[in-house]
Amino acid sequence: MSLALAMQMSSPAPRASRAAPILDPKSLAPFVDPLPIPAVARSHGSRPSPTDPNLQLPYYRIEMRQIDLKLHRDVGQTRLWGYDSLVPGPTFETRAGNGLFVEWVNMLPRTHLLPIDHSLHGAEASKPDVRAVVHVHGAKAPPDSDGYPESWFEPGKSAVYFYPNSQEAAMLWYHDHAMGISRLNSIAGLSGLFFIRDELEDSLGLPGGKYEIPLVIYDRMLTAAGELFYPVSEKPDSPWVADFFGNVILVNGKVLPYLDVEPRKYRLRILNASNARLYRLSRSDGQRFHQIGSDQGLLEAPVELESVLLAPAERADLVIDFAAHRGEKISLRNDTVDVMQFRVLDIRTDDASSLPPKLRPITRIAEAAAVKTRMLSLAEYSDRAGESMLMLLNGTYWHMPVSERPVIDTVEIWSLINLTDDTHPIHLHLVRFQVLDRRRFDRFAYQTSGVLRYTGDAIPPEPNELGWKDTVRAEPHMVTRIIIRFEGFTGRYVWHCHNLEHEDNEMMRPYEVVSAG
Ligand code: C2O
Ligand code: CU
Ligand code: CU
Repeated sequence: MSLALAMQMSSPAPRASRAAPILDPKSLAPFVDPLPIPAVARSHGSRPSPTDPNLQLPYYRIEMRQIDLKLHRDVGQTRLWGYDSLVPGPTFETRAGNGLFVEWVNMLPRTHLLPIDHSLHGAEASKPDVRAVVHVHGAKAPPDSDGYPESWFEPGKSAVYFYPNSQEAAMLWYHDHAMGISRLNSIAGLSGLFFIRDELEDSLGLPGGKYEIPLVIYDRMLTAAGELFYPVSEKPDSPWVADFFGNVILVNGKVLPYLDVEPRKYRLRILNASNARLYRLSRSDGQRFHQIGSDQGLLEAPVELESVLLAPAERADLVIDFAAHRGEKISLRNDTVDVMQFRVLDIRTDDASSLPPKLRPITRIAEAAAVKTRMLSLAEYSDRAGESMLMLLNGTYWHMPVSERPVIDTVEIWSLINLTDDTHPIHLHLVRFQVLDRRRFDRFAYQTSGVLRYTGDAIPPEPNELGWKDTVRAEPHMVTRIIIRFEGFTGRYVWHCHNLEHEDNEMMRPYEVVSAG
């Protein structure tokens, strides 16, 4: 188990420092709300394709709005921000190669729900409190449609983005990315799912339709009255905290929901949409399941697992079989804590779906194909009281000149040298990549003389990390190496830690894909 995971499990229940007492989820009756399934987004007409004016592509319009929603039967309404007034937002359903437009409309109020830290870069008091910009995580999108953190817009404004969707079937997700406040906009509720399907996936006969269930898992803190609570530091001028770990866990917008299932196979599409919390998910009956896909789509072959570990922004595509469990109740757990419950109906049903032994061929990128290896440190800086102040990627702040400038259609290896005691989920926009290995190193030697000296053997990625990824767990005190082909578009993107507290406080950098020559 990673250190970060161990720490968050043993940490005492959080306490509200100033405001109202916070809600203890143990006081709530479990499994009284049915699991909501996010509605599918509907297009509003069409517009000509940017590449072929004779082709009409669907045009969606999604409004961000403040709303009050019930998160549990016995808790009052919670004020939230949702895409199309939903949390999670409506699910996009599209197919590989079918482009679409989305007009993202900011209809939020001008006052933020949560405490802004104006000392953070990009969140100065001179900027409007409420700002939004949308990023489709995992999308191969043109730079001006990628949701650059500084391309935020105020209430009353909107942006039209184009998504070509020229990529393999995968469950992507969309979320806010506004500079310096994305952690708060995320807690407020701004995220949703984005599915791309393709023919290869169709041909596999996996459980589909009502037997394919998306599970968006995230943690929150609530006041006893049901309002969102976000902790602040002891410094009134810089309320930023280094991590957010909520004690209430929600799935698709409900606390401890249940789902009635038939005794057959289901496909579960799981997203960790938390700011900082990692989950180790398992079945309460100790039985196994299969993982068939990760962030960027299907694995080469199913991997049988007892539990699956997900850092923020990571996805797992699972096949779980309830056939032998008629009439049983099985919960999905995070370590020992229930997250939701499956109630297997005591009925007979047939299951024509399959779990094929081969899924999608995946060619490993040869290390020899890399034209460049970049050594990139992940470091944390503390103040004199030992309180975390900020984290940096390779010792550089957001505003410093772009240092990662890969050439389009070339391959690079990025060595993520984690000098900290925490797992950092590192994400690159635009691209998919493969995990090469993880390896212990001499931190002292690196910090004093910049020499990278390995102290252990290279540890290969887990079997369920052998597919295409867009977010990788950079484990503490390890060098995690990824190999990336920079394809699709030239232009300005970002790479960052997907712990959103870290991202908002300098653990994010621009990078630029440049043309050859
Ligand atoms: Cu999930 Cu920069 O994004
Ligand atoms: Cu992304
Ligand atoms: Cu981090």
